[in-house]
Amino acid sequence: MTDTTKATQDRVVIFDTTLRDGEQSPGATMTHSEKLEIAGLLDEMGVDVIEAGFPIASEGDFEAVSAIAKAAQNAVICGLARANYKDIDRCWEAVKHARQPRIHTFIGTSPLHRAIPNLDMDQMAERIHDTVTHARNLCDNVQWSPMDATRTEHDYLCRVVEIAIKAGATTINIPDTVGYTAPRESAALIRMLLERVPGADRIIFATHCHNDLGMATANSLAAVEAGARQIECTINGLGERAGNTALEEVVMALKVRNDIMPYRTGIDTTKIMNISRKVATVSGFPVQFNKAIVGKNAFAHESGIHQDGMLKNAETFEIMRPTDIGLADTSLVMGKHSGRAALRAKLRDLGYELADNQLADVFVRFKALADRKKEVYDDDLVALMQDQTTSAEHDTLQVKRLRVICGTEGPQEAELTLSIDGVDHSIDATGDGPVDASFNAVKMLYPHQAKLHIYQVHAVTEGTDAQATVSVRLEEDGKIATGQAADTDTVVASVKAYVNALNRLIHRRQKSAPGSDMKNVHYTSRA
Ligand code: KIV
Ligand code: ZN
Repeated sequence: MTDTTKATQDRVVIFDTTLRDGEQSPGATMTHSEKLEIAGLLDEMGVDVIEAGFPIASEGDFEAVSAIAKAAQNAVICGLARANYKDIDRCWEAVKHARQPRIHTFIGTSPLHRAIPNLDMDQMAERIHDTVTHARNLCDNVQWSPMDATRTEHDYLCRVVEIAIKAGATTINIPDTVGYTAPRESAALIRMLLERVPGADRIIFATHCHNDLGMATANSLAAVEAGARQIECTINGLGERAGNTALEEVVMALKVRNDIMPYRTGIDTTKIMNISRKVATVSGFPVQFNKAIVGKNAFAHESGIHQDGMLKNAETFEIMRPTDIGLADTSLVMGKHSGRAALRAKLRDLGYELADNQLADVFVRFKALADRKKEVYDDDLVALMQDQTTSAEHDTLQVKRLRVICGTEGPQEAELTLSIDGVDHSIDATGDGPVDASFNAVKMLYPHQAKLHIYQVHAVTEGTDAQATVSVRLEEDGKIATGQAADTDTVVASVKAYVNALNRLIHRRQKSAPGSDMKNVHYTSRA
């Protein structure tokens, strides 16, 4: 094998595309620093290839891919490029800083996709030859994808895969772009390519499945059984429409059922839970409660029969241990008498390794929470760690004070003090309920055109003193930003989440046109 990655007979390369296919899904946009942080976690957990972005898509994408390429310690860093020289050159400029760079170039090969660039079969074959050759002249690690491969005529697929291999591609990815295939067909396609394409034994076949019919994990594993040795996936299955294959699902399936699927990955599975939480927070896509492996209920045993069985022998109802994915085994509940050392140990169990100054900050917020809430559970601490208001010092807007007046007779009132660029402004506003009144107050203090797309509230634990985590998604001029916050007061969490999302939009505006954010703002404050 000419590829620099580690696929062998039983070793499956894990290719993570959370930062490209995942981030591409509407609303999941991440900031530069969030992308860097997630790439660091992927690298640390043993992901073999990180698809860091689509460098030609925007200046921001280019910068993120370059920065990730420079920072990566172990993983191959890959960028995506369409089948043209400009895309490929730009991609190379971004990934070339990596210890192990890869260019991933693609073109849609199915009849429907061929119609888009209006190329006939021969013209497309020539384009594939030229662009893969160009990429290979820049980089010796080149991946090529026939987009919508699962709906491409088999003869044509064999023909173009052969061309790409001859032009120097080292990995051939077979995407199920629209999530249309099924396990038996997914396996048969890989087998067919291995049998019919000359040179197929010299390269690695990858499988890239979307989850439109809920079969992405099964399809990926079937492809591996047929001879594919790279799985393309995302954390939490993030991705367009119904998402991509979930990394945690394929990795844990290969680990738990190694008896019938004897393949290895290089993933440290104890890092799964931490990165799952991180991706949920920064993307604003919460993980469904009953999601395999990382859902809140994946290891919860509530029924009497289950609990009884679990106490006698955990294996009665558990096929893997919570600790396998980095979930704390202890149910030690924290409270206001818990000290700094206990908090550090607990957070370490939950996958958060903190420097002293970070611990000092979290400890203050933990104490404030423990004062309001008798018992602080693991989920409360995770919510505390994920609260985006912690990284807010450099933000334009900060919530300073909020008081709401509610009653059976409306309208409800909110008194809000917002710090705008370091100066406090206050206002009273009314609305249809306390959240509406508070959001109206934000709009009056900081007029903006952003539309509220999603407003979601989750209780972190049970009880009336439970913390609420709130996600808010705003849209302005086609740009989408998500904010999250946690508090025992749902209205406070809501306003903080709204302001977080607004800060992200402002940040983006400032980056694309410095100074533009303040142009149309006239404060309407009380003070
Ligand atoms: O789903 C798909 O076809 C893709 C390609 C760009 C590989 O994401
Ligand atoms: Zn895809």
